[in-house]
Amino acid sequence: MRITFIGGGNMARALIAGLLAQNTPPGELHVVDPDEDKRASLARDFGVATGAGASPAALAADLLILAVKPQQLPDVAKSLQGRLASPLVVSIAAGIRAGDLSRWLGGYPRIVRVMPNTPAMIGAGISGLFALPAVSAQDKARAAATLAAVGSTVWVDDESELDALTAVSGSGPAYVFYFIEALEAAATGLGLDAATSRRLALETFLGAAKLAAASAEDAAGLRAKVTSKGGTTERALQVMEQAGIKQAIIAAVGAAAERAKALGDELGQAG
Ligand SMILES: NC(=O)c1ccc[n+]([C@@H]2O[C@H](COP(=O)([O-])OP(=O)(O)OC[C@H]3O[C@@H](n4cnc5c(N)ncnc54)[C@H](OP(=O)(O)O)[C@@H]3O)[C@@H](O)[C@H]2O)c1
Repeated sequence: MRITFIGGGNMARALIAGLLAQNTPPGELHVVDPDEDKRASLARDFGVATGAGASPAALAADLLILAVKPQQLPDVAKSLQGRLASPLVVSIAAGIRAGDLSRWLGGYPRIVRVMPNTPAMIGAGISGLFALPAVSAQDKARAAATLAAVGSTVWVDDESELDALTAVSGSGPAYVFYFIEALEAAATGLGLDAATSRRLALETFLGAAKLAAASAEDAAGLRAKVTSKGGTTERALQVMEQAGIKQAIIAAVGAAAERAKALGDELGQAG
């Protein structure tokens, strides 16, 4: 399957690395990016074909991945109008709705919109995918298999669910970093040195996440198991409950989802 990336930045690099690790031949990959240095490093690091513009050879792909910044996408899409044979178009641009992209591409119907997250950079991402109605089951399978190169995938049937997904898993790594930051600050506040504090916070987070993933029990059940009556964990959780931490997190993620919807409206109008 020939895959062309329009935009050879961070996400394209992560996807290319993942695809090559899954034994995609480098000869099947083509990257279009105006930046000469980026093209040179992509060719050197991965052995993929590169070009400064969307040439007919670049567009003769089975899968076209739009990996430019959201603000760049309207112009990029309009420049492709009438030039696409019949590739499956996959857009990873945050916030750009599939219908708006289809319109900028002159009514092009074979579009899958993806919302990845930053752990994709190390192959540990989770991507939400939404397909326009004209996308076949085979095309959906191709899109999911491609994104699976950088982590897991989940389909949504209603595009508005991507706003919720953006608020949860798209912005989610930042919430996790925030919690790690707080745990680290608490550790140094209790007199531990910086390196030990960082290690304790990180390993605790990694270990607990792995335990939760490996367990059939839900998070509340796992938490109950490590919370002995009158113990240290119970005391800490009481303080968190009194401070309304859970409600604050729910409200924060809700606000992020509202912002995702508003950004989608703005980006759609901008094009
Ligand atoms: N990074 C993430 O974790 C993440 C998560 C979710 C979604 N996304 C989405 O993924 C997309 C790519 O993100 P990124 O972090 O990879 O951005 P990036 O590093 O800025 O990559 C975009 C690349 O596209 C190039 N470009 C600009 N105009 C172009 C054109 N006309 N034709 C071809 N290439 C062009 C840019 O060049 P210049 O730098 O010269 O403009 C840049 O090299 C964004 O839409 C973002 O919303 C990223």
